[in-house]
Amino acid sequence: MNYRSAENGIITPVETVVKVKGLEKSVRILHVTDVHLCLSDGSERQDREELNVKRAELFTKDGVKSDERFPLYFELASEANCDAVIMTGDVADEPFPKNIRVIEDAVKASPVPALFCVGNHDWCFFDGYRTADAARDYLPLYKKLCGGDVDHNITEIGGLAVLTLHNGNDTFTAPQIDALDGLTKKDKPVVICFHVPIRQEGLSPLAAAFWGADNCLGEGGAANTPETARFINLIKERSDKIAAVICGHLHFSHEEPLFNTVQIVTGLAAFGQCRIITFEPID
Ligand SMILES: [Fe+2]
Repeated sequence: MNYRSAENGIITPVETVVKVKGLEKSVRILHVTDVHLCLSDGSERQDREELNVKRAELFTKDGVKSDERFPLYFELASEANCDAVIMTGDVADEPFPKNIRVIEDAVKASPVPALFCVGNHDWCFFDGYRTADAARDYLPLYKKLCGGDVDHNITEIGGLAVLTLHNGNDTFTAPQIDALDGLTKKDKPVVICFHVPIRQEGLSPLAAAFWGADNCLGEGGAANTPETARFINLIKERSDKIAAVICGHLHFSHEEPLFNTVQIVTGLAAFGQCRIITFEPID
């Protein structure tokens, strides 16, 4: 497929087709993850501002900064006739107000619904990485973007029930387990979207090679809280009702069957990677 932006080499979508039982009409989404916006209006503490300038360089490729690529994803969603944009975390590198403002403005101006969940970076400055204070001070700033509840939210896109949730603390939560339990007892095929992938036979060695350690969730991975084990178990149990699990965090692309569903990891949007996922009905 030739999209204007892709031809320019500025963003490079990959395409994935997922066949879904119980879906009446095709649904197309643009998956965007790990934009790592490093914008600031200069009003933060000096050490934070200085680090942010360095981080911005890290997320610049071919002279194009992550914030310059960001609007192109919404243009692509429109050109590619997507029904929604789904952002799965680390869209902001740190919770600078300007990052959040730019994301909110993009969502407001988006030609299609834009769903959002936080990752491990959006809500933490590096001097307080994933602390209780960071959660208290910065997670609420994303409430509106997350559809009213940072923990999880459910949105219907076409014939799909989309569960977006926050696992950027390397754990799932009891309310998320309840939400998935309830949702998979209903009629609509479910799509689950979150930041940190679940451990898989094929994926985990790749994550370990890329990051120096397996940073996926589940037994033997980054963390294995009881809630994480229960959430993964529920995916296993209900995987016939789950069309796909969509995530990011790893900065590379990967697709792998997960029980009777599929886990789709999309690469680094800061460098132009994204994915068009078409959910197609099957008898
Ligand atoms: Fe991440």
